[in-house]
Amino acid sequence: MDRFSVLGGRPLQGQVTVSGSKNAALPLLAASLLCEGTVEYQGMPELRDVATLRELLQGLGAVVEGAGSAARVSAPAEGPTEAPYEMVRRMRASVCVLGPLLARRGRARVSLPGGCVIGERPIDLHLKGLAALGARIEIEHGTVVAEAPPGGLRGTRVYLASRNGSTVLGTANVMMAAVLARGVTVIDAAAEEPEVVGLAEFLNSCGACVSGAGGNRLVIEGVPRLRGGMCTIPPDRVEAGTLILAAAITCGDVRVLGCRPGELAALLDLLQRAGVPCNWGEDPEGGGGRSERPGWVHVSPWQRRPQVLDVVARPYPGFPTDLQAQWLAFCTVGEGLGLVTDAVYPDRFMHVAELNRLGAGIRREGSTAMVFGPARLSGAPVTASDLRASASLILAGLVARGQTIVRRVYHLDRGYERLEEKLRSLGAAVERETDPEPP
Ligand code: EPZ
Repeated sequence: MDRFSVLGGRPLQGQVTVSGSKNAALPLLAASLLCEGTVEYQGMPELRDVATLRELLQGLGAVVEGAGSAARVSAPAEGPTEAPYEMVRRMRASVCVLGPLLARRGRARVSLPGGCVIGERPIDLHLKGLAALGARIEIEHGTVVAEAPPGGLRGTRVYLASRNGSTVLGTANVMMAAVLARGVTVIDAAAEEPEVVGLAEFLNSCGACVSGAGGNRLVIEGVPRLRGGMCTIPPDRVEAGTLILAAAITCGDVRVLGCRPGELAALLDLLQRAGVPCNWGEDPEGGGGRSERPGWVHVSPWQRRPQVLDVVARPYPGFPTDLQAQWLAFCTVGEGLGLVTDAVYPDRFMHVAELNRLGAGIRREGSTAMVFGPARLSGAPVTASDLRASASLILAGLVARGQTIVRRVYHLDRGYERLEEKLRSLGAAVERETDPEPP
């Protein structure tokens, strides 16, 4: 098991390029199950979760080739239709094979994902959408058993939102099932996240007919089949936001390249209002379709301590819940009192206790954490509980006096590609070590 050793006190300097997006790559990989031809992927991030999904696709009879940032996937029309508990337990996002399997092979058995430390994570909306398309859905021994009707799925209209807002992977699952259904499907209260836009654009490039992506109403006209195609994984907006906050928390001077500033508007607006000098631009060419244009973000050293500001994490285009923990860490170097609320995952605060071990002095009340800055952070051993909490603890370690040891960084490796190398290239004193302590 690995851990990170971080020595605080170094403002980050230089430039860094963002990797491909984990949360875009997973549904895009699952979509290969829908295609009659081969899908060639580029810009694939080298992450544990991507490796897990490649393994799952192989278990479903797909031929998965390529290494590093390239992958080629060919999925036959017939083959196994089960995603086992062991796989889904390891990675909840495995549920996004449900829709494609049902659409292409007429059946699917996918283990119900358990909860996770950030919240309950149900998939009731996924199942609601698939049932609306005519699938018979049973839950047997913790497994979703889904069967398409004779003649296949048929178009429908379905409202996909919970009390916490829309569902990203639920929208992806139902959209992927609907692209091969007979007739037209309308998804109301669809997720507007860029990952949904990217998936719709890829499906359309393979012959699907999806419109409205990026808005809250998707219209999918079913087609008989999808051909293979090319797919370039878009940049990871959460990694970009994490690197931007790493620059801001250290009062650094960093240019983040290969990101899409338009997807980071909520964070960039917040940083500017807090008093962190940042600007951004888009590459003159590039982009196209409904996706935001590629570009860069430049964070400059602040002359006056930034203001701590209130934020509520909401579905896109709101402030992303996946940056909530990192924002909370950043608030510890700001001035004043701030309330950080997570309206998507009200329990996503496992990082608070660990940040407090570093001296953050954060108080949690329900779905809100109260932070009063500036806090004099001092290094200590801390333990990561989940992917974004890991990043939050590393950011705090970058400014804490002395050494911070962040344990269980296997959580980090699920969603950040060689983060320690990226931070070191910006001057951070971060080392990956084997953890001698028992887990
Ligand atoms: C995606 O998860 C992301 N994961 C998450 O990123 C992200 O935090 C989340 O969207 C919200 O933006 C991937 O894309 C792989 P949801 P997803 O369904 O789709 C409730 C990270 O750190 N809900 O949008 O699983 C749910 O409880 C990860 O990279 C239902 O009630 O999330 C939550 O409160 C963490 N019923 C809200 O909706 C359902 O059927 C949003 O969940 C589905 C969801």
